Amino acid sequence: MNLILLGAPGAGKGTQAKRLEDAYSLVQLSTGDMLRAEVASGSEVGKKAAEIMESGALVPDELIIAMISSRLDKADCRKGFILDGFPRTAPQAEALDRLLEEKNLKLDHVIEIKTDDEAMVERITGRFSCAKCGAGYHDEYQRPKVDGVCDKCGGTEFKRRADDNEETVRARLTAYHNQTAPIIDYYRASGVLEAVDGMAPIDDVTSQLKGLVG
Ligand code: AP5
Repeated sequence: MNLILLGAPGAGKGTQAKRLEDAYSLVQLSTGDMLRAEVASGSEVGKKAAEIMESGALVPDELIIAMISSRLDKADCRKGFILDGFPRTAPQAEALDRLLEEKNLKLDHVIEIKTDDEAMVERITGRFSCAKCGAGYHDEYQRPKVDGVCDKCGGTEFKRRADDNEETVRARLTAYHNQTAPIIDYYRASGVLEAVDGMAPIDDVTSQLKGLVG
């Protein structure tokens, strides 16, 4: 099963992708995580992306399309994948159609996680993750069961993303409405778009998604 999760910054794409990955043995393909790994490694791609990401703007299409194309060629994608944060512009959506055809792959679901912008600012500024295993948390909505200890790996160090401040979140929301919202219309017009209520509690959103993908 191959699917796309669409939604604003903070909508819950990463949170839900990890849950679906575990439940259905899929691979999460997050272009944001891939870019952050490039930044951390100090690669040329990372150097180009770092400043753009901190401003809240989108990284150039060519770079993202090349990155996702080579990732789709890896063997683990054959068991099924969840695209999280890609496509994000009309050229990326068109490129994805071409890549899927060339690689003999197809999409089974395109799902929008619908949310309100103001709540996204609160969600993102409260987000943190385990520095060791990457498990995601929130100051209010998703705290570790034991304060200061990761539920998944027992790690005790946590980190926050450089772009998770209010100013950058607002720039990311603007980029989303200007550049990403049009591709929701593109998938709606193709008759493949499904949607869940992303304002519901995290477990409810997971149940809605499972209801759609079966
Ligand atoms: P990326 O990493 O993709 O960030 P994003 O789209 O802004 O999405 P987020 O990761 O912020 O949100 P999410 O929807 O995954 O929310 P999460 O589940 O963590 O991209 C970062 C940057 O990289 C971009 O700005 C751009 O520069 C670049 N980039 C990436 N892809 C690109 C592309 N294709 N083209 C060009 N540039 C690209 O949840 C957020 C928080 O809320 C968490 O703390 C969670 O616990 C909590 N939460 C989740 N769901 C709920 C809920 N239902 N109720 C309450 N709390 C919830």
